[in-house]
Amino acid sequence: MENRVIIGGQWGDEGKGKIVDALSRDVDWVLRYQGGANAGHTIHIGKEKHVLHLVPSGILHEGVRCLLGGGMVIDPWSLRDEILALEQKGHEVRGRMHISATAALLMPYHMRLDELRESRLKRKSIGTTGRGIGPAYLDKIQRTGLRMGDLLLPAENLERKAIEKILSANEVLSEFYDAEPVPARVLAEELVVLSQFMSPMVVNPYAVLRGVREGTESALFEGAQGTMLDIDHGTYPYVTSSNSTIGGAMTGTGLGPRSLGEINGIFKAYCTRVGNGPFPSELLGEQGDALREAGGEYGATTGRARRCGWFDLVAGRYAVDVNGMTGVIITKLDVLDNLPTIQVATAYELDGQQTTTYPVLSEAVPRCRPVYSEFAGWNKPTTECRKLVDLPAAARKYLEFLEKELDTLIVGVSVGRDREQMIWTETGVTT
Ligand code: IMP
Repeated sequence: MENRVIIGGQWGDEGKGKIVDALSRDVDWVLRYQGGANAGHTIHIGKEKHVLHLVPSGILHEGVRCLLGGGMVIDPWSLRDEILALEQKGHEVRGRMHISATAALLMPYHMRLDELRESRLKRKSIGTTGRGIGPAYLDKIQRTGLRMGDLLLPAENLERKAIEKILSANEVLSEFYDAEPVPARVLAEELVVLSQFMSPMVVNPYAVLRGVREGTESALFEGAQGTMLDIDHGTYPYVTSSNSTIGGAMTGTGLGPRSLGEINGIFKAYCTRVGNGPFPSELLGEQGDALREAGGEYGATTGRARRCGWFDLVAGRYAVDVNGMTGVIITKLDVLDNLPTIQVATAYELDGQQTTTYPVLSEAVPRCRPVYSEFAGWNKPTTECRKLVDLPAAARKYLEFLEKELDTLIVGVSVGRDREQMIWTETGVTT
């Protein structure tokens, strides 16, 4: 198996979980490299539905080893609950789960700080998932955080270190936010108990990934969120706090560029965004509502209604370029099955000028007005299609256009939520 990176091409929720599940059957490792429990990867297997937040989607294949990489922020309380829930459903997890000692530890006070900061921002709030992601990365970057490796400390030392961190978070809670402090001793004791559950899984990522580095073991890198939510390349400040783009795959695992292999961008056949921030091709009103209902566009982590809109080629090409994508996978094509017409944003109009170059500046993106091309719908179900030739001609025309404009081969098309509802097209969709 060749190594592969799976990256969201839009604002997250592109259906990466399903694709990782489909592609991880034969790999040795699935590596999550950034983010935390803000992610919600939904996988349907027969009648079973799994929503994973921290555990990589590859865990559902027996024998696949999983790593939570050093680029992540991990809430050990949530992780324990997720592991136990999977084990209750009969999946063997603990023997195959590895957690990088260098990953940041997300504490309950990070969630509290996330909530407080959001409510203080009022109308300018980011619309975060409330999982403490920003504050946990802040602690990491300002070099004051705990790491998963701390769970290997003797109980007394861990407790002492945790209390110190909790007390300084309490200072911020009470002095800056005038909020209740969190109970330091209780939390520190809980963390010591959790450390017994977690510590057998905490590893030195450099040592366990030797086989991947040397090319004797294969790896699939599982990205969370998407390019337009990346802290550096996304619609700042309405972004998450990690690098969901290709650089994150390296810094978040400690593997170099030669280990990456194929770089596959996952794009929905349209666009969605949850939370606040610019979304040039957003459909407001009835059309947006119809797309939301057809696609079941409600957040897997927070249940929030997702904002919906047309495929945005300006942002799409930017995502291809920023990540150096070698192939693209289009998901949820079937959601468009009953639409009379489909539009695609091919350019933006900005200050009276047309541009196909994504403008980057946070002050410019909200002023961009999309320029659309229109396509005829196909009005036929695609959910039973398994080969390109099975697709209605209009659907193929739409995919061919996306492939040409993205200037990257479409190597897969998803036509439903189940594992087998996939069309694999190694040589692209254009015949
Ligand atoms: P945070 O990552 O919780 O700080 O949220 C920052 C922004 O990223 C908000 O707009 C969230 O809605 C969005 N976000 C974070 N994780 C995901 C995800 O997995 N899918 C879609 N949006 C996400």
